[in-house]
Amino acid sequence: MASLVGCELRDGIAIVTIDAPPVNALGQGVRAELLARVREIDGNPDIRAAVLCCAGRTFVAGADINELGKPPLSPVLPEVLDAIEGARIPWVAAVHGTALGGGLELALACTARIADGKAKFGLPEVTLGMIPGAGGTVRLPRLIPMCDAVDMVTGGKPVTASTALAIGLVDRLSETDLLSAAISYAELAGQPKPASLLDRPCRDAAEMDWQGKAKAIQAKARGAEAPMEALDALKDSAQLPAREALKQERQRFLRLAASDQAAALRYAFFSERNAGRSLTSIDSAPADLQRIGVVGGGTMGAGIATALLLSGSEVRLLERDTSAAETARARVDDMLGASVARGAISREDADQAIDRFTASPDETALASCGLVIEAVFEDMDVKRDVFSRLDAIMPAEAVLATNTSYLDVNRLAETTVDPARVLGLHFFAPAHLMKLLEIVRGRDTGRRALSTGAALAKRLKKTAVVSGVCHGFIGNRIMAAYRRDCEFMLLEGASPAQIDAAMRNFGFAMGIFEVQDMSGLDIAWAQRKNTESTRDPSEPYCRIADKLCEIGRLGRKTKRGWYDYSDGGQKIDPQVIRVIEEERTKAGVTAHSFSDEQIMKRILGVMQREGQALLSEGVAESASDIDVVMLTGYGFPRHRGGPMYLFGQQIECAFL
Ligand code: COA
Repeated sequence: MASLVGCELRDGIAIVTIDAPPVNALGQGVRAELLARVREIDGNPDIRAAVLCCAGRTFVAGADINELGKPPLSPVLPEVLDAIEGARIPWVAAVHGTALGGGLELALACTARIADGKAKFGLPEVTLGMIPGAGGTVRLPRLIPMCDAVDMVTGGKPVTASTALAIGLVDRLSETDLLSAAISYAELAGQPKPASLLDRPCRDAAEMDWQGKAKAIQAKARGAEAPMEALDALKDSAQLPAREALKQERQRFLRLAASDQAAALRYAFFSERNAGRSLTSIDSAPADLQRIGVVGGGTMGAGIATALLLSGSEVRLLERDTSAAETARARVDDMLGASVARGAISREDADQAIDRFTASPDETALASCGLVIEAVFEDMDVKRDVFSRLDAIMPAEAVLATNTSYLDVNRLAETTVDPARVLGLHFFAPAHLMKLLEIVRGRDTGRRALSTGAALAKRLKKTAVVSGVCHGFIGNRIMAAYRRDCEFMLLEGASPAQIDAAMRNFGFAMGIFEVQDMSGLDIAWAQRKNTESTRDPSEPYCRIADKLCEIGRLGRKTKRGWYDYSDGGQKIDPQVIRVIEEERTKAGVTAHSFSDEQIMKRILGVMQREGQALLSEGVAESASDIDVVMLTGYGFPRHRGGPMYLFGQQIECAFL
């Protein structure tokens, strides 16, 4: 069997290379071989220093997530790190790609760290429901200021190489040959070896506002335990001798790794990577995505155009006239400007992006695009008209996509000569920020169109989930079902504020009524009116939302919806309560009280039933795809795994 950890000697320097594709995770085999190499090297008096590097695309990306939550296999990572830290000679980590979790802890146990200019460093354990378990909370704040360590450990977000250099996490950046730079540094490191980080106190711990940070973390965590545990571990680290803090950290790590939240988060991690898996086996070259057309420059079209520009594509946007084209351009410009203000991109990146953008009413400008995404008003006749026009002007090899939230992709495809080149791409607003993309496979969608959707998702760094055609696809169909049930709960005695609070307490960022107010009640109202003629009259129907729309309460944009926003805040509105009571009386329902738990059981039950229907109809490819949609597009709390995960675990409601 090929070795996972190789060692080569160059003039008294040992070059130790971890080679465990795809991401050099620290599984048991890697740990055992690395420990053996450390011991061999320590026993060889001819070796003056060691450089630790990785083959392939990245430095060690962390523990092997498949091993987490199971009984630890020997040797455990702290044992390996102790051996490196206590070695006779200095060890220099040469980091490229991402040094994450156990990978960063490994680099921290080395005497020094040299990094490629594009490297990233992070402790993402909280995103997996844990804290670092091999010294991350102990060595890191002894190397960098405590406030930076707190951000890295409790937030889980990686920092760039330049930030790492600025805060003292790395000793030097190498813009050219990383290995040579690390070897030179190792030669200079010399003897005696510098003292271990464990012999230093934490940096700037006295300046930490622990209480303020705890408040901020708790507000953001929405029930996830790990971020607060991470803060507590760092507090311990500041107060305890380092070796005692290491023991406490390890215990906390083992307890959390075995928790329900960590299991749910690991499931979410692998589900996201499995999403859209059926697309990877498609044997067909995608369309050229260097130049992409967008039809319609409203909020959605402009957001899609911005996402495409940020991915490096040239974008040609079609609008009905010059003035609408100018408005679309201004929207895209604003979105790019906001990305600069957020620090997501540089001003220079934004300028280059807008240079790749043109907007005009000239249809022929689209003809050289490999893919055109239509994002006009959500109306079947309007979209069918756009599709038949596109079909006439676009060359046969171009792929045509519709960005629709609900409409029947098969009916749109009918307007084209070759429906195989048509697919649905359901983006979520704001399209340049939201990670989810539903790729809608129509009855006749061909392999090339699907592989184009997959290539586009990859290019945009979005999580793609394949959905068949149905009203609302996976996500909106589930949302429509539980929103409907929430409205029935209003008839039965719950209030919008109570349902929203129950959802927030469960971990959603917002409740369903708050979400509706944010996105506007009119779109769903229009959908209900569109489907009115086909509605089964024997099916129960709740008219409360229609009533609110009829009296002009369309959500935040009209300052009134399920709540009153007229004074800038969000208030319960007696008019809404009256509408609910009137409808309750008409329906002859006697109100009863609801607990948070009863509300969430109802909501989860509806999500799960609808999810099962989507599976049995073949609309969704797997239960985990449904969870990915709910987690990435609908604010379902990640630490609960998703509705189908809870169903599989036979957890009725995680309040229990
Ligand atoms: N353990 C086990 N498998 C891992 C892994 C880990 N720590 N990190 C990544 N993988 C696997 C993925 O499941 C995927 O497998 P697949 O190809 O069978 O689907 C493969 O490695 C590639 O990962 P992917 O995320 O698709 O690649 P990427 O290039 O987009 O991202 C990383 C690479 C390292 C940034 C990303 O995988 C990541 O963030 N990994 C987790 C890091 C982490 O949380 N470490 C701390 C663990 S405590």
